Amino acid sequence: MRFDEAYRQSIDEPERFWGQAARAVDWDAEPGTVWSGGRWFPDGRLNTCHNALDRHVAAGRGGQAALIYDSPVTGSQRTYTYAGLLDEVARTAGMLRDLGVGHGDTVVIYMPMVPEAVVAMLACARLGAVHSVVFGGFAAPELAVRIDHARPKVVLSASCGIEPARLVPYKPLLDEALRLAGHRPGHCVILQRPQCPAELEPGRDLDWAGTLRGAEPAGCVSVRATDPLYILYTSGTTGVPKGVVRDNGGHAVALLWSMEAVYGMAPGEVFWAASDVGWVVGHSYIVYAPLLAGCTTVLYEGKPVGTPDPGAFWRVAAEHGVRVLFTAPTAIRAIKKEDPAGAQAATSDLSGLRHLFLAGERLDPDTYHWAGDLLGIPVIDHWWQTETGWPIAANCVGIEQLPLKPGSPTRPVPGYDVRILDSEGAECPPGTEGAVAIRLPLPPGCLPTLYRDEERFAESYLSRYPGYYLTGDGGYVDADGYLFVMGRIDDVINVAGHRLSTGAMEEVIAAHPDVAECAVIGVDDPLKGQLPMGFVVLKAGADRAPEEVERELTAMIRERIGPVAAFRRALVVGRLPKTRSGKILRATMRDIAAGRDYRTPSTIEDPAALQEIADVL
Ligand code: COA
Ligand code: AMP
Repeated sequence: MRFDEAYRQSIDEPERFWGQAARAVDWDAEPGTVWSGGRWFPDGRLNTCHNALDRHVAAGRGGQAALIYDSPVTGSQRTYTYAGLLDEVARTAGMLRDLGVGHGDTVVIYMPMVPEAVVAMLACARLGAVHSVVFGGFAAPELAVRIDHARPKVVLSASCGIEPARLVPYKPLLDEALRLAGHRPGHCVILQRPQCPAELEPGRDLDWAGTLRGAEPAGCVSVRATDPLYILYTSGTTGVPKGVVRDNGGHAVALLWSMEAVYGMAPGEVFWAASDVGWVVGHSYIVYAPLLAGCTTVLYEGKPVGTPDPGAFWRVAAEHGVRVLFTAPTAIRAIKKEDPAGAQAATSDLSGLRHLFLAGERLDPDTYHWAGDLLGIPVIDHWWQTETGWPIAANCVGIEQLPLKPGSPTRPVPGYDVRILDSEGAECPPGTEGAVAIRLPLPPGCLPTLYRDEERFAESYLSRYPGYYLTGDGGYVDADGYLFVMGRIDDVINVAGHRLSTGAMEEVIAAHPDVAECAVIGVDDPLKGQLPMGFVVLKAGADRAPEEVERELTAMIRERIGPVAAFRRALVVGRLPKTRSGKILRATMRDIAAGRDYRTPSTIEDPAALQEIADVL
């Protein structure tokens, strides 16, 4: 099937299209209904871990590498075959079962990029339990909020993470989070790493290796296709993160389909998503999709630069025979900055690499051209978000590679009916920018709801344009149907491919005793894409040096949100630009910071306030 035909069929006959795709999944009970009541495959039953591991072993893939752990930060490598990974996962599931974890229970996983993190996710899936992985770069209060919302029976963690320049002891962060949280998990199971062993609290904490030793392997628990597989918290526009829910059935069908159709992968080939299991890219394309498809996945504990040099990505790709590499543009920019001529790539044999896929933030044309010229392979920008779990727009090389256009993630992927809407909800003509929306229903694999918050789900995504899902991004479609995504139209920013909420940062800053009011916006950064920048008005009488305030606010954001926010700039101003009704003009501030032409809104309270922002920048 060519691309146009596949796309048309997916939109005109979604049930036929996804019903066919569902045949590639092993079901305990075949779904009789493809779509009904807003849910995919409502009467199907399956187990996601069985589809990722057991069935490949049963089909003779047991000796093939399932996961290659490559860790320059510890100087180690380990390969798990499908049979070996299955054994590890089944015993870990047995360990969790012994701790009382069963179908529908939640488990929080706060871990670095070690194989046990992947094993833990699959072990939860095996039991029908619901995992919620929290990224290691978040601080204790962020972990506490997630623990309180997910209410885990067990927390799985490790003694430390390893960043290029320092060890990050995770256990004290977990202890602090549990001190802050109201919820009490039954147990915390801690993976002791030799680089920094942690002290365990008797009764509550258990040593991972010791507890696992006594565990019997557990089998797969059959679950409903609509049962949740995981919750992944992501930044919304306020300080309270959104718990994106992923179901089992739609997720397995969509991810398996995407491996071949979007990425052009065949079973047995090596796929590497250089991300982190704490983000959606890690969930979908380090863990689930490659394994569902019988591929080999690479788990890389390192950075694009500094572990030890900007040749690290090329070394890993060559050494493990990677066919498709997926990372964020910021990683390529980091490599380019340290090795502009790309000399490091020349020392690795990259002849097996077919495609470089990039996502997580806008792909700037410079980075696109640099990577393409260096590698001599197609560089494919694709656009998606935590909520969808897999690409909304991409060049589906497994169906038909379309011509590439720099600055565009190509066209909507089959299943996604993308429309550009104006403020009244009317469709924008080609070339005109508007809100990027997706006509309902969303395809399988996308979020059915927010965890324990149906109301917020409807209000955040469905209420703005009835009948459509609001992506939160702005953009346009050109005359050839190519989508151009121009950036968020809400208070979400992307820092080094990490999604963060400026609203959450404002809440932290507002708690500073000398701050009267504040606004945080994302400003362009040549390496990280965007960086947060705060504008603060001090309380009357607060006679403070601006550098001191900036230092204190930087420390507060690091302690309350985490180092990943990369918050370092806070400018003291006399007033913030506002409308007469008191709304801060963040969008206009963003335009000024980006050097774009801006319009002074007629509702502005004091036009001089805008000039002040321009002056301090
Ligand atoms: N645990 C603990 N701390 C972490 C962490 C983790 N898992 N991940 C990041 N951090 C810390 C870093 O140590 C750093 O701390 P510092 O302020 O003390 O230096 C801070 O969070 C910011 O980290 P990072 O965003 O990684 O920035 P960096 O300046 O260290 O490196 C890049 C810049 C571009 C190399 C890096 O951001 C990168 O590799 N980005 C790719 C992003 C990606 O894969 N995104 C997923 C979407 S595909
Ligand atoms: P996350 O949920 O962390 O994956 O972040 C999703 C957001 O990242 C999207 O809503 C976009 O704003 C941005 N994003 C992801 N991929 C792209 C891309 N290819 N081009 C432009 N923006 C992107």
